[in-house]
Amino acid sequence: MPADRARDFLAIPDYSRDELLKLFELAERMRAGSYAERPLAGKSLAMIFMKSSTRTRVSFEVGTSQLGGHALFLSSRDVQLGRGEPLADTARVLSRYVDGIMIRTFAHAEVEELAKFASVPVINGLTDLLHPCQVLADILTVRQHLGTIEGKRVAWIGDGNNMANSWINAAYRLGFDLTLACPDGYDPDPAILKRAQSAGNVRVVRDPAEAADSADVVNTDVWASMGQEGEQKVREKAFAGFIVDEKLMARAMSHAIFLHCLPAHRGEEVAAAVIDGPRSRVWDEAENRLHIQKAIMANLMGGVAL
Ligand code: CP
Ligand code: NVA
Repeated sequence: MPADRARDFLAIPDYSRDELLKLFELAERMRAGSYAERPLAGKSLAMIFMKSSTRTRVSFEVGTSQLGGHALFLSSRDVQLGRGEPLADTARVLSRYVDGIMIRTFAHAEVEELAKFASVPVINGLTDLLHPCQVLADILTVRQHLGTIEGKRVAWIGDGNNMANSWINAAYRLGFDLTLACPDGYDPDPAILKRAQSAGNVRVVRDPAEAADSADVVNTDVWASMGQEGEQKVREKAFAGFIVDEKLMARAMSHAIFLHCLPAHRGEEVAAAVIDGPRSRVWDEAENRLHIQKAIMANLMGGVAL
């Protein structure tokens, strides 16, 4: 990267394996309450939202404040970006005011464009392609409950979407086993999959039971992501048989945990008995967004070395 460009977090492979492990350790210190520093004192984070959010908005805003900084919520309904001001101009202007930009939007290319023209770090808060902060929070949850992600078998049941693609990126970087069960026509991004498959530990199957067999972690997400609401009915048909219910969970290891990035649709991609049951770790998973994003911001915006 050119010397005048700040380091960004747009995708999990932007960090090395060693850096990711150090990021988890920092986040764990933050979760334990043993981190009292305020590396963002006097600093600001701009948060651009072109899509809805509960967890991402609140965890970034609260996390910035806990690190001594200030966060600005910029909804596309209110800022000139929503009226067609170019992203490049927005990036250059915001860089004169703030110390970091978090963006949630549709096309991944928009986040790359923002990062290209911003002189401050840019953090990906979800695109149609990737949701890297969420998957790092998910792995933090696996470490919390299963000790480590090393050597674990992770099952992804459902759409080959932004979450699935980020899980593939994580498996590529960290080397755990990942089996994704996706209906025909709903596979993950081919380029992301190809790169990970060259490392040999990621595969796509059609049968949810095959993915869940002996899994340590069973993970799913909505069938229609934000922006795909018009496909809901078609997708309900395509994803028939892909619900994570108690029968599917019974195929996993007895210690297996269930994850879902939320929001969830009970009775659709997950049975209430699973998401509200004893193996579900979804509330810790949501909490871990706060800790991992604080670690990312401390590193990218606060100069905390990993
Ligand atoms: N999981 C997640 O990103 O949630 P929000 O859409 O509420 O931010
Ligand atoms: N795949 C979902 C994740 C929501 C946090 C979506 O993009 O809507």
